[in-house]
Amino acid sequence: MPKMKITVVGAGMVGGTLAQRLAEKNFADIALIDIVGDLAKGKALDIAQSAPIMDYDINIQGGDSWDIAKDSQIVVITSGVPRKPGMSREELLEVNFKIVKDVSEKIKKFCPDSIVIVVSNPLDAMTYTAYKITGFAKNRIMGMAGVLDTARFRAFLSMELKVSPKDITAFVLGSHGDTMVPVLSYTHVGGVPVENLLPKEKLQQIIERTRNAGAEIVSLLKTGSAYYAPSAAVLEMIESVVFDRKRVLPCCVLCEGEYGINGVFVGVPVVLGKNGVEKILEFKLKDDEVQALKRSAEVVQKLQKEVDELIKKHS
Ligand code: 2OP
Repeated sequence: MPKMKITVVGAGMVGGTLAQRLAEKNFADIALIDIVGDLAKGKALDIAQSAPIMDYDINIQGGDSWDIAKDSQIVVITSGVPRKPGMSREELLEVNFKIVKDVSEKIKKFCPDSIVIVVSNPLDAMTYTAYKITGFAKNRIMGMAGVLDTARFRAFLSMELKVSPKDITAFVLGSHGDTMVPVLSYTHVGGVPVENLLPKEKLQQIIERTRNAGAEIVSLLKTGSAYYAPSAAVLEMIESVVFDRKRVLPCCVLCEGEYGINGVFVGVPVVLGKNGVEKILEFKLKDDEVQALKRSAEVVQKLQKEVDELIKKHS
């Protein structure tokens, strides 16, 4: 198999940690890009110098020039400003819009055939921005959030039940925000429905903690937001695409009628393979879950309208 090239845009904590995780997997060359070129260069060099010890031989380059990204098969956008304690992800819309717009224009020019994974916040609106600006087909644009939110939900359940998180299967759907929808009816522990194992109130507490999990980390770190779990979630999506694994993962993608949602980027279960988003899996949800998912999509739709306005203003 010829070596892949993956570009990570943004050499902050998520981008840098993702580059490290990718390097240690040793399946793709890496370009790490940041407007602060020396930061990207420094992190790339540091990762390259770990190679003899960590036993990888991929090539990693860093800098501010998009030449190093040329013809990447996958581009991950992590650039943007993170939240400060007390801020919502939505408050980042305008400032991160400009950044994601610039990056998307570069992707269109330098990596026209790539599959794009968006991580910048507010996630769903930034994924929509990348879709609008690149003009790429919908199967090539996805946002990372559901895998992270689901990992957090599974981690909290595993802490409560004192069982391996590996044996907990779950889906957190909807927007990567306060309206996210942990789907209890499909949450199982070793095949047993979670609702048979924990009382309602406990489950409700865990759902609330999941919804606030990003903010909990922001308030602990004080400067910046989470990066270990977010970068691990992106890696899981990348591996499913690169190795054509057809994993079923909740991702932020364009819904066109699925779950009664039309024209909105929101987290739903998809099959990820070599063509990117190969299928949206539509399965039966309970009525209250469908309503919650629709409400979540309505919140994103409002943000998409704001993005449309910003596109007009900045064109
Ligand atoms: C989080 O939930 C940064 O949105 C990201 O931690």
